[in-house]
Amino acid sequence: MTPPRLQLSGVSCGYDRLAVLDDLSLTVNPGEFVSILGPSGAGKSTLFRMLTGALQPQSGTIFFDGAPLSQTARPFAFMPQRDALMPWRRIIDNATLGLEVQGMSRQAARSKVRPLFAEFGLAGFEEHYPAALSGGMRQRAALLRTVVQERPMLLLDEPFGALDALTRSRMQIWLSEMWRRHRWTVLLVTHDVREAVLLSDRIHLLSPRPARVIRDIDIDLPRPRFDGATVATAAALETDILKTLFQTEETF
Ligand SMILES: Nc1ncnc2c1ncn2[C@@H]1O[C@H](COP(=O)(O)OP(=O)(O)OP(=O)(O)O)[C@@H](O)[C@H]1O
Ligand SMILES: [Mg+2]
Repeated sequence: MTPPRLQLSGVSCGYDRLAVLDDLSLTVNPGEFVSILGPSGAGKSTLFRMLTGALQPQSGTIFFDGAPLSQTARPFAFMPQRDALMPWRRIIDNATLGLEVQGMSRQAARSKVRPLFAEFGLAGFEEHYPAALSGGMRQRAALLRTVVQERPMLLLDEPFGALDALTRSRMQIWLSEMWRRHRWTVLLVTHDVREAVLLSDRIHLLSPRPARVIRDIDIDLPRPRFDGATVATAAALETDILKTLFQTEETF
């Protein structure tokens, strides 16, 4: 049997005396879209900081494809919550950044990313600076930079958090289609319940800090989930998840 792509067992982690992740266990299987849903300040970005190597776990184990996660060769492409694009670099040079960090020449990296601009709705904007793009376009550029690295797993931290509601909905539909086409292995962090329900195969629900998984939810709904009968089922699920989150906050 194929091992999970990512498996965290009993992981605890924090800053100085602040406990942030508490005995956290979760799995992501190859090709799965999994979301971490939890309140602000729970420790979602901290989890990504730990996976990308900026923080060490205090206890527990992290396995990747069946082996302990390597300290040196991290297998993730990470899209951070903030400051995703460098304002002084053209969009094409922002898109190549991850590849250049990996050691590819700028010319080779440009040749690799250029053909992808159309699929990411950015054709014609290669030479523009980030300030000349809409919020949705900037996020698509940041996502392009992330996926072009072709790492075994994507970590997306609130990719649509700063967008207005309409753009956000459009981006969710777009990401859902992109995932259907490419079947990336994705771990998405969000505090938007609807976003998690519409995009995910599974959701790990986090408690407030110190965060642990309070509920695992399989989203066994056909895709796309933005029309027809699925919308009503997704809405009922959303209400149910919100109830769990509110109940958990009351007990803290
Ligand atoms: N570098 C740091 N040093 C000390 N404490 C930190 C640091 N970064 C975050 N924290 C604390 O860790 C806790 C979790 O923060 P984190 O950024 O992981 O939350 P989050 O779940 O991503 O929240 P949000 O949804 O608002 O992005 C918070 O209490 C925060 O104040
Ligand atoms: Mg965060």
